[in-house]
Amino acid sequence: MRWRQAIQEALYGPDGFFVSGDRPADHFRTSVHASPLFAGALARLLVGLDEALGGPPTLDVVDVGAGRGELLLALADAVPGPLLRRLRPTAVELAPRPPYLPPAVHWSHSLPASVTGLLIATEWLDNVPVDLAGRDTTGPARYVHVDDSLGEPVSDVDAAWLDRWWPLASGHRAEIGVPREEAWRSAVSTVRGGYALAVDYGHLAGARPALGTLTGFRAGRQVPPVPDGSTDLTAHVAFDALADAVSHGVAPETVLVTQREALRGLGVSGARPPLSLASTDPTGYVRGLARAGQAAELTDPAGLGSHFWLLSAVGVPVPFQP
Ligand SMILES: C[S@@+](CC[C@H](N)C(=O)[O-])C[C@H]1O[C@@H](n2cnc3c(N)ncnc32)[C@H](O)[C@@H]1O
Repeated sequence: MRWRQAIQEALYGPDGFFVSGDRPADHFRTSVHASPLFAGALARLLVGLDEALGGPPTLDVVDVGAGRGELLLALADAVPGPLLRRLRPTAVELAPRPPYLPPAVHWSHSLPASVTGLLIATEWLDNVPVDLAGRDTTGPARYVHVDDSLGEPVSDVDAAWLDRWWPLASGHRAEIGVPREEAWRSAVSTVRGGYALAVDYGHLAGARPALGTLTGFRAGRQVPPVPDGSTDLTAHVAFDALADAVSHGVAPETVLVTQREALRGLGVSGARPPLSLASTDPTGYVRGLARAGQAAELTDPAGLGSHFWLLSAVGVPVPFQP
């Protein structure tokens, strides 16, 4: 069996990892869980977007691949009151709605028809199932099967993608980004006015890993990618290919930056509070230290800070430049 089908069944089938039990947060830590500073920065992005849109009666926030709605709850805490009253939060998620979510949060298994506001996906696209390709010493690229054998030659569409974005040397492996690009183009095309923002880990041409990136996570540990429903299965996103797919046709105003650049632009700083605060306001000092530690984690160039932010602006100016 090819990987795309195996991942689809293992993650989203009847007993799939994401739809039949534990919370994603039980198994791995995303920026959403690392610190409320992440939602705080997005709240500032939302405030600027609201102004750019002229303060519409309703401002959408659509979180695609929302987990258990954690980001939407954190945003409700971070957005100023007057804007909060106009905010329409929607989780797009294949897992069932958690019973504890407030009624203000809409829950849907599919994308809305139209979004005015922010559509965001944090660590969704790395879980959109993809095929793997490999090449032996001779012949064309072939699909890799879950037993690691090489099967049939890849389709013309996948061959063209590999030629352009991830040329394969003999013995190497690549994850074919086509399904992610289709998924993200569909999501971005729902935005009538506002931003679409994909945040995830990934790579660019010139730095593709020779053996690909498919791996598993379970209970906080990296494990082999066994497609049996017990494990998250994830592969890094080819972000330059994704940027190209949306900027041609769907959203020409698209920028790609690192999370470190984006969060710094939004005022998240790892600077420690001045030592003098320790004597005048010890509690404030300790709070400032904790904030600095969390900001450092979110912007760490060797960790979450190296994640990519692909932002498309529709009908409003791009909020930051690369
Ligand atoms: C890695 S989790 C990310 C959760 C959260 N966004 C975060 O950053 O912590 C990916 C989530 O995407 C959801 N998902 C995957 N494909 C989806 C789809 N086509 N529509 C809606 N949700 C999807 C999964 O069920 C899972 O909860």
